[in-house]
Amino acid sequence: MRAEIIKVDPKSPQREIMEKAGRILRGGGLVAFPTETVYGLGGDGLNPESSGKIYRAKGRPSDNPLIVHIGSLRDLPKLAEQVPDGALRLARRFWPGPLTMIFPKTRTVPYETTGGLESVAVRMPSHPVALELIRAAGGFVAAPSANRSGRPSPTLAAHVAEDLGEEIELILDGGMVGIGLESTIVDFTQAPPAILRPGYISREMLAACIGQVELDPGIDRPGTRPPKAPGMRYRHYAPQAPLTIVEGEQAHVADYLNDLARRERQRGRQVGILASDETAGLYQYGLVKRVGSRETDGDIALHLYQVLREFDQEQVSCIYSESFYTRQMGQAIMNRLLKAAGYRVIQVSQSSNKL
Ligand code: TXA
Ligand code: MG
Repeated sequence: MRAEIIKVDPKSPQREIMEKAGRILRGGGLVAFPTETVYGLGGDGLNPESSGKIYRAKGRPSDNPLIVHIGSLRDLPKLAEQVPDGALRLARRFWPGPLTMIFPKTRTVPYETTGGLESVAVRMPSHPVALELIRAAGGFVAAPSANRSGRPSPTLAAHVAEDLGEEIELILDGGMVGIGLESTIVDFTQAPPAILRPGYISREMLAACIGQVELDPGIDRPGTRPPKAPGMRYRHYAPQAPLTIVEGEQAHVADYLNDLARRERQRGRQVGILASDETAGLYQYGLVKRVGSRETDGDIALHLYQVLREFDQEQVSCIYSESFYTRQMGQAIMNRLLKAAGYRVIQVSQSSNKL
């Protein structure tokens, strides 16, 4: 199968295209579609066979549960056995939007969709194409990110075609996504609720709405406690060339990497450097890619996966990245970057940069 790629108006998706996509989903097929976070690979969330197809298409372990996407709060009780007040408040404040919440599941939700768990992850996306697709499909669209398992999530339809073009029937091309990192996941099967995956909706934004919110201790520290979201446990995207994060004052990081990249070049090897708009000019050697401006951290989140994909196309022996603890999305950006780096971080100080 070679996926058909159809361009769709991201603001007001054409009805005939959405009906066609809806028919495929209702018939048990798969459709990739844009959301405001990343592209999703959709199947009918209440059809166990569709969920099976999603796992096979992605090459994803079938104990890693899927998020069910809904288009109306009225549909939540069909999936969730209990919805605590706090969750309802978050839904009213942030849905439709980049927030996923986990509840005890009803019998309606097949175990194939939840990876065998008694809980279900639910999200109401805000992207008009996603909302129209959910409506056309009958209300419940299971969708993981539309990448091959172990690759960065897709932020463009071309990334989906690269990874899954041979596996699925249809890719809806709504242009570039808006956020670029996956939704924030909050687990409401425990009290107080806990963030299982950081995203655009920050801990502060959640706490301002419902008070106490914990951070799952397994998120950013490997080897302490296993993370609660099964997907956060799997080895995530790792670039073909080993990636290391370098932290310290900007000038020290630049000195360190200039030295290192120059020496690698003498040995006939090219180093990849992932930098921001503000710092890219500090590097004299190596292949420098800028991910965006530190002033608008949304920019860095939006381009991170794309730049990581680009590095995989290049002949670099290793990649070094600055760290991006930016104001709003810093936690989410660093969570994904640390995973991609296998948690390798070098701290440089003035004294250690003279190699
Ligand atoms: O932004 C997003 O959330 C995107 C778009 C397409 O909506 N979707 C997405 O799905 O990122 P996926 O499958 O790539 O990531 C879902 C994460 C996985 O880490 C999975 O283990 C976790 O959510 N998850 C799903 N259901 C869960 C559950 N019942 N309990 C704990 N973790 C769950
Ligand atoms: Mg994913």
